[in-house]
Amino acid sequence: MKKYLTDMKIYAVGEASVAGQQTVINLASNENTMPPATHILAALTKGAQELNRYADNTCGMVIKALSAAYDMPQENLICGNGSAELIFLLATAYAAEADEVIIWKHGYLLYETAVRRTGAIVVRPQSAAFVDCDALLRAVTDKTRLVFLDNPNNPTGAYITEPELRQIRAGLRNDILLVIDSAYAEYTVAENYADGAALVKEFDNVCMLRSFSKYYGLAGARVGWMYGPREIVALLRAIQQPASVSTVAQYAAVAALENREYLADLRQNNLRLRNQFREEASALGLKTYPSEANFVLVNFFSETIARAVFNELKNHGIIVRPMTAYHLGNCLRFTIGTAAEMRALKIALPLALTEACAIIGKSMESLPI
Ligand SMILES: Cc1ncc(COP(=O)(O)O)c(C=O)c1O
Repeated sequence: MKKYLTDMKIYAVGEASVAGQQTVINLASNENTMPPATHILAALTKGAQELNRYADNTCGMVIKALSAAYDMPQENLICGNGSAELIFLLATAYAAEADEVIIWKHGYLLYETAVRRTGAIVVRPQSAAFVDCDALLRAVTDKTRLVFLDNPNNPTGAYITEPELRQIRAGLRNDILLVIDSAYAEYTVAENYADGAALVKEFDNVCMLRSFSKYYGLAGARVGWMYGPREIVALLRAIQQPASVSTVAQYAAVAALENREYLADLRQNNLRLRNQFREEASALGLKTYPSEANFVLVNFFSETIARAVFNELKNHGIIVRPMTAYHLGNCLRFTIGTAAEMRALKIALPLALTEACAIIGKSMESLPI
């Protein structure tokens, strides 16, 4: 076995069930929590009729639909088995043993898996801020090959503006690839946010990643896509497993893109529910962080309390995401669900917090506000 693979850990996905509970509210994995709409179910049924055949290796119909929807040339687009597959391919293409790959201080954890598979090292620039462009640029060395920027950042919800994206590109050597991962772009409302597509057009060393798993509600189908320079797209196609995006997933992605008006309210609803949730958590004495995505990071000021609240919420049938793996042990990350799910959370969170404080013998008043 390769020496650098010996202490690899299995990527910890969010929990999805609670022992003894038939139904749970799953706010652990930043999915769109609405069940698939009828046009998606119809598309899946259509795709299922072709399951005796391998899927279209070019993802032709998805690429065509993306090209039309986003006005991007088809040769600059590639689909993957979730954007996760594209992250793995980018790391394979650009990083090798002893190279360095920079991510945010609390960058998306899967980057670590993708990078460590290659023997390269992940560098997380330290700073008081969740996202700090100067700190990131200071972390560049002659071993840096690649920068993965999730914007907004999962799990903090923090984002950088288009001028800041440009500042980063300008501060990197030309032989360093900048990957802007805009998995949550559809949820953003900040006027100075940009998904990075304009930079892909302008530079030959910038790629943008997107996902059908979040806003489009197809996390289980596994479709992600990348807009990038055609040479990089061609290289990723060459090292990609054939037909990695299933036929049913391709049909579902096209149906999702072609029926976008169905999702028209999702961004505004997410914004309203996100603001409401932040207010409710603040009223309990907790600290929440501004988010441009469909989740909110909440600080409980103590790892023991955060862990106890996580367990108590599960007893109330609600699963959220512990943050120890992100070196944010005092925090939990809450996906913004439907209005009904958020109403249930509004009732359960104060109860869970009181129960957690009772279990560990702390009073609620002792929480620093
Ligand atoms: C920032 C970021 N990028 C990529 C992904 C992976 O998404 P996909 O389901 O498309 O593989 C996620 C999923 O949580 C994410 O948070």
